[in-house]
Amino acid sequence: MKKYIITVLGQDRTYPCYEGQRLLHAIEGAGGDCIRVGCREGGCGVCRVKIHSGEYETGIMSKAHIGEEEKKQGLVLSCRVYPKGDLTVEPAPKYKNRQE
Ligand code: FES
Repeated sequence: MKKYIITVLGQDRTYPCYEGQRLLHAIEGAGGDCIRVGCREGGCGVCRVKIHSGEYETGIMSKAHIGEEEKKQGLVLSCRVYPKGDLTVEPAPKYKNRQE
């Protein structure tokens, strides 16, 4: 099984993520608490992160929490992200350009 390395900006450690594992679960499973956890189902929006680099796929994410423009900027709901390579991410509970 492939193993990827997740780097969280501002943290002095990395997190392993196995192929098919969701980003949020990988960080939580390794004891990380740098991302807020809510529904774990792509509906509440609290687990939002910005992906700075790396390949990934996403499952269904609530459009109320991640718009098309945000998605293009790398904003995602971490409970719906499947890394496909090493990633560098930034927790983004309230990202700057977002209207709320
Ligand atoms: S935890 Fe609710 S959207 Fe990810």
